[in-house]
Formats: sequence, C-alpha cells, structure tokens
Amino acid sequence: MDWDDYIEFGKKALNWGSNYRKSIRQYPVRSSLKPGHVYNSIPDSPPEDPESLDEIFDDFKTKIVPGITHWQHPRFFAYFPSNAAPASVFAEMLANTMGSQCMLWQTSPAATELEEKIIEWLRIGMGLPNGFKGIIQDTASSATLTAVLTMREKSLNWTGNKTGLSGRSKLRIYASEEVHSSIDRAIWFSGIGEDNLVRIPVQGDLRSMDPELLKQAIQKDKKEGNIPAGIIAATGGTSSGSCDRISLIGDIATKENLYLHVDAAWAGSAMICEEFRNLWTGIEKADSIVFNPHKWLGAQFDCSVQFLKDPSIQKNTLSISPEYLKTKGVDGIINLSDYTIQLGRRFRSLKLWFLIRSEGMSGLKKVIRNHVNWTEDFYHKINKLDKIEIVTPPILSLFTFRFVKEGVKNLDELNERILSEINNEGTIYLTPTKVKNKYVIRFTAGTFEMEKKDIDVAYQCILKKTESLK
Ligand SMILES: Cc1ncc(COP(=O)(O)O)c(C=O)c1O
Repeated sequence: MDWDDYIEFGKKALNWGSNYRKSIRQYPVRSSLKPGHVYNSIPDSPPEDPESLDEIFDDFKTKIVPGITHWQHPRFFAYFPSNAAPASVFAEMLANTMGSQCMLWQTSPAATELEEKIIEWLRIGMGLPNGFKGIIQDTASSATLTAVLTMREKSLNWTGNKTGLSGRSKLRIYASEEVHSSIDRAIWFSGIGEDNLVRIPVQGDLRSMDPELLKQAIQKDKKEGNIPAGIIAATGGTSSGSCDRISLIGDIATKENLYLHVDAAWAGSAMICEEFRNLWTGIEKADSIVFNPHKWLGAQFDCSVQFLKDPSIQKNTLSISPEYLKTKGVDGIINLSDYTIQLGRRFRSLKLWFLIRSEGMSGLKKVIRNHVNWTEDFYHKINKLDKIEIVTPPILSLFTFRFVKEGVKNLDELNERILSEINNEGTIYLTPTKVKNKYVIRFTAGTFEMEKKDIDVAYQCILKKTESLK
C-alpha cells in the first residue's frame, strides 16, 4: 500500500464507516459468533506474497465485522459506554496519520501544549478549582496505578522505588467495598498486596463508604504499627453507581495527611453539567481525580484524564531521566511522560480538541442530560411492572433491577436465564452484577447517538419478558 492507495482506500473506508454508523441499528448489539469462529476463518500462517487491499478489505467486512459487538449501537446498555463521536474519530485518524510519539515536549511540542490546554478547558468545564493540572492517560486503570504508586512513595518518604517494600511495616490503602477491580490490581502491582486494601462497608442510598468506619480503620492500623498510605474514593461505582461522600472523606484524608484519589471513570463526564456536581461535593479536597472521556464524553477510546492538585508529587514518584531522554536548551518545558508509567505517549488531546469544539460544551451537556432523563423515565416505567424489582434506583443513568416470580426460589438463576435470552435476541444488550449478594441486571444509557426511541425498545423487551413470566 502506498500513499496513493491510501486516498483510494481511505475514501472506501470512510464510506464504509459512515454507512456502518448510520445503519448500526440493523445489527444485533452483541455478536452471536461462537468461540473460535473468527480464529478458524483466518489462515494459519502469514501470506508470503502481498495481497490486494480489496481482498483484505473484503475479509474485514465478511470475517471481522460479524465478530464485533457494536459498542456504538444506540441500544448498547451494557457495562459503561465507550463512545466514539465522529469528530473524535476523525481527529484520531489525523493523529494516526502523523504517527507522532509525544513522550517529551520536544518530540511534539504541539501535543504537550494542546494537552495542557485541554486539561485546563476540562477543569473549567467541570467546575474544578483553579490550580488543578493534569495529564491524559490511556485508561483509568493506569491513572489509578500511578496514584497508588504515588501514595506508596509519599508515605515512604520517597524511598520505596530505591529500596523496595521488604522488611517494612505494612502500607494500608482504604476504599469502599464497591470499588472497581482496577483498584485491586493497582494494589497488587504496586507491591502493597491485596490484604492491605481495607474495604470499608457502604451505607445509604448513594452506597458511600461509612466515614466512621474509615476513621476507625485508620486508627486501628496506626495502633498496630501499619502505615496508612492513602484513600481511594469513587464517584459513580461500576456496579450500581455508588458515590462516596468526598467532602467527609477529604476531611479525614487532610487530618491524617493521606493522599486522596477519586475514581470517577464513568460519572466524571457528567460533571460538565452543574446540576450533577452534588455527587462529588468536596472534590477540591482530592489530590488526584480520574475520569474517562472515552466513556461518556464522546471521545474515541482510549482517553482517560487524570487531574492532579500537585503534579510534582506524581513526578517525584515516576520521573526518571536517563541521558538519552534529557532535553536540553528549552526552559520551562514539561515532559508529560514524567507523570506516567509508560514512556511513549499517544497524541490523545487532539481528539478532545476536535470533539469539544465541534459539539461545544452545550452539545456535550445535552447528550448527558438526555441519557439521565431518559433513564429516569425508563426506571419509572419498569418500576410499575409487577414482575420487576428495582434493586438500586438511578444514579445518573445507571440503575439495577431483577425479574421476580412468585414461587421461584432461585431468582439468580431465573435472571441469568432471562438476561441470556435478551442478549441472544440482540435487540438490546445488558450486563449483570451482584448487589447485596443478589444477581441483578444493570441498565445504563450512554451511547452518544442514542435516541429516546431506543429506550422505548428496551422497555418493550423487558415488558415482553415480564409477560412471559405470567
Ligand atoms: C468506576 C470505574 N473505574 C475504573 C474503570 C476502569 O477503566 P479503564 O478501562 O479505563 O481502565 C472502570 C471501567 O469500567 C470503571 O467503571
């Protein structure tokens, strides 16, 4: 393929992409292929001779697309959304074409400086106080890992990287019992060890960690000679949208001199709307906040923003300057790879720049508000169905429910079966979770191109299932 073919096939790909996205409702949301189908359809060894682009593109359409679960489908109500609005896809294509590696300021000054500006735009757009800076990472998992490493180093007075953890008192990190598995993994990978993740029980409608129990856990650890290292709070937990009371937790963190990281991977995007900011009141007390514009803000995957109150703490944890990376001769520059685990950095701010400019903050707010309002309507409607039990009411655009039937003892099994039927039918896609040890079904709206009519289809699906239980 040369750069003339690139134009010819670029046009074909753009046509295909536009038609795909415009007609995406015709696909079953979840791919129904059996395991091994795609693997077995691909030759066992690579071609010795070049193949034509036409042939490769045809194979893409016939072999790959049927094995895709359509995350951009407006009736994708599973997991959390992973959006890809057209302006961000377009910008990503430009970034890919330039193929820049943006690890240092001098390896692409525009990438560093645009990233700084976009962080500032988002800080303002989300109502965060002046002074928060930040970086764009690939995923929330990476941002949380950097935050946990920072907690580790700060609590060890910056000696952990050099001498390791062995022979020291145990480091302890506190989080609610509802935290995402990325927090567990960060604790594993930082060498702190899962047994030192203290899971604080939740309370109330927002399922927030109990501040009294948090205080007690910290005091107990101090008495036992353990080292409290940090707190991880959540705004919009994955199972049911739980929100910790950041203001109270932040006060505890300040009093105990503990680093506070807030995981708002999903719900953070909603904070561009002023009326939802009560879910993270006190956020200015956080040291680090992560949210994923690739989830609910429309940015093409991957794109995760980490705000930092004092970036120098993270830099002290992660920065290393071997001779071959030293940048000479430019004063006052920032090398963003000083703040991340990976050295290499993609040009992610470009897609946010295109997205925010082409939609405007008002356009982005409208999408999120629609999702929240339509979810609320849907919740009220299915709450009236006599074979439905709401397990957790909506937090933003997420709630959980389950099917109930008199005389059926094993409701977990019943719900697992019905959910599997729904997803096999392919009209909508929902995923399960466990709440209070019950198997429940999650509903979350968030696909950028979703319309009200898509929720109506979801309602018809659920209604039909309740009727089949009579
Ligand atoms: C609340 C929460 N935190 C963290 C993550 C991990 O996100 P990522 O895939 O960006 O690592 C998720 C993923 O859905 C999440 O819901």
